[in-house]
Amino acid sequence: VMTVSFHKYGDMFFPGTGDIKDIGDREGKYYAINIPLKDGIDDTSFTRLFKTIIAKVVETYLPGAIVLQCGADSLARDRLGCFNLSIEGHAECVKFVKKFKIPLLVTGGGGYTKENVARCWAVETGVLLDTELPNEIPDNEYIEYFGPDYTLKVPNLNMQDNLNSKTYLSSIKVQVMESLR
Ligand SMILES: *[C@@H]1O[C@H](CO)[C@@H](O)[C@H](O)[C@H]1NC(C)=O
Repeated sequence: VMTVSFHKYGDMFFPGTGDIKDIGDREGKYYAINIPLKDGIDDTSFTRLFKTIIAKVVETYLPGAIVLQCGADSLARDRLGCFNLSIEGHAECVKFVKKFKIPLLVTGGGGYTKENVARCWAVETGVLLDTELPNEIPDNEYIEYFGPDYTLKVPNLNMQDNLNSKTYLSSIKVQVMESLR
């Protein structure tokens, strides 16, 4: 099994694990890939990094199956998270993994602004079923959570600047590529 994790790291952020240098131990050495990110990462830089790394992992490791855990605390305005992803950017990553046509199990994960978590996983379930969902959320028992717009797509206006510089992201990429090699 190879594990690949994209996550916030630093500033004592819970649980404080997943440094770039953590690559696995003993027989597992080189089978753990950690991608530590800083606050405010946006769709453009996240999806670019995600695609580059995942493509290389698939090419190198040739997995027989993929388990994709879609933590939604990376969405902008999450109560605990500090990234700046839109639902579309998040779903773009699911789309990318699906395209490999490798047996795929997709699960939820963290996410603490619950109405956006529900939106995100609904959109991604749609992606997996090749179904584009209407933007207007139909009436349901929980509809009041989705006001004032009652739509699936939400603006990802975020107050956090992207602290992941191009230099930082490219150094992460280089280290991951080296570990895979
Ligand atoms: C968050 O991302 C959106 C684009 O996806 C961008 O318009 C916005 O400026 C970003 N926020 C910050 C503070 O950089």
